[in-house]
Amino acid sequence: MKQEGTILIVDDDQDILIAGKLLLKRHFSNVLTCSQPENIPQLLSEQTFDAILLDMNFGPGESSGKQGYLWLEKIINIDPQAVVIMITAHGGIHVAVKAMKLGASDFIAKPWQNEKVVATLSSAVKLGKSRREASELKKTNKVLAQVSASHNGQQLLGHSPAMATVLSLIERCAPTDANVLILGENGTGKELVARELHAQSLRSDNVFMSIDLGAISESLFESELFGHQKGAFTGARENRVGRLKAASGGTLFLDEIGNLPLHLQAKLLTVLEQRTVTPLGSNSAIPFDVRVITATNISKQDLADKAKFRQDLLFRLNTVEINLPPLRERSADIETLANHYTQFYRHKYGKHEKSISTQALEAIVKYSWPGNIRALRHAIERAIILSQHPLLEPIDFQLDGYSNQSIEEVIYKQANKPVSNEIENTDLNLERLEKGTVEQALKKHHFNISHAAKDLGLTRAALYRRMEKYGF
Ligand SMILES: Nc1ncnc2c1ncn2[C@@H]1O[C@H](COP(=O)(O)OP(=O)(O)OP(=O)(O)O)[C@@H](O)[C@H]1O
Ligand SMILES: [Mg+2]
Repeated sequence: MKQEGTILIVDDDQDILIAGKLLLKRHFSNVLTCSQPENIPQLLSEQTFDAILLDMNFGPGESSGKQGYLWLEKIINIDPQAVVIMITAHGGIHVAVKAMKLGASDFIAKPWQNEKVVATLSSAVKLGKSRREASELKKTNKVLAQVSASHNGQQLLGHSPAMATVLSLIERCAPTDANVLILGENGTGKELVARELHAQSLRSDNVFMSIDLGAISESLFESELFGHQKGAFTGARENRVGRLKAASGGTLFLDEIGNLPLHLQAKLLTVLEQRTVTPLGSNSAIPFDVRVITATNISKQDLADKAKFRQDLLFRLNTVEINLPPLRERSADIETLANHYTQFYRHKYGKHEKSISTQALEAIVKYSWPGNIRALRHAIERAIILSQHPLLEPIDFQLDGYSNQSIEEVIYKQANKPVSNEIENTDLNLERLEKGTVEQALKKHHFNISHAAKDLGLTRAALYRRMEKYGF
């Protein structure tokens, strides 16, 4: 059977190209040849090669190997992961050694022995593939590390007794590897707490990998978390490193754990217990080393219901439990948060003259904030953008008349408002229709954002953007 791999042979000697191609085509899936090294950059930009066989001398009478070094350096400059095998003439071993110091992976002496060439290229192709995988992993980690860095600036604010308890718990358990379960309503700051735990931990230089279990489809769960091998299922065109492995050395934040179906809870439990993952289509288990933090907006009672949540998984996850109370139960924090976000958005939108009136601040502090800190933050952002006056009044925060109602009631009333006169028969206004649908989905799922987003075919972030747009 042919080995999967794309090989490029670069030599100015047509005989070598023909012989090489004939030989290697019997052993590898793809073999290309190139007689002019000037074409190498173009070829590299068009496709990736698992291994490149490169001659040391181009042009008649050349034997210094200088051109070989030159082209080797160019190849590595273009593709630092390239695996280059040098073709050296007449046992020029010192030339080969120098080439390896410059980054070549191996060399083959002319005249070559077929078996030796095939064996050398076979390991070169394997090396090429694993180099690419490792570099992909690094890239993923870098992107994720950047994502987490962008959140680092966000401080956990609040000095209410409830928040003081949370902050002290974070400080005490962050440096340990203890599993932490964070509980709280939507928008109470669960993700921020998870990031803070990571930031104060000994793993803070490594990646913070967040996975929204509510947003991963069941069919993708295993391939996302455990990875897969090329060909493991239709559509698996490349090997893929699973998130558990990619998070190794860092923190794995499993968000919306309460939404994971029971049978996937069992799979998750197994990998967390064994601390190894077996990618789909593979039979070898790969070890990983992560600190696990989980979060859910599901109530403690629901989590304790074994018909909904595996109790053995719960015991594995909740070594430490952090409860984030809703904002209405820590109203002492509201003023601090409101001032902080006013400052933040004033700066962001260059509206330095804006400030909150005493009445508005009173209304904000009294309001029950069913959407918690996220909603408070959005209300302030909206007010700063939309208000026509420097002093922000209660009306700018759209709290009037809302404060004593639950958000469900508000939405119900809005959804059942009589249709205005100017619209005859059917309302075809896309924005209004979208708003109505978003409202319906939210009501249907009792404000469970993950479920509503799934029903709408949106990501949670996209749903949040719409909620913000329509003022929910
Ligand atoms: N204590 C806090 N101080 C400052 N900002 C906060 C605090 N808690 C939350 N926030 C802000 O509120 C918003 C929501 O926080 P976060 O995403 O952490 O909530 P969550 O509990 O994960 O919400 P959900 O359950 O909807 O995913 C974020 O913009 C976050 O920065
Ligand atoms: Mg969250």
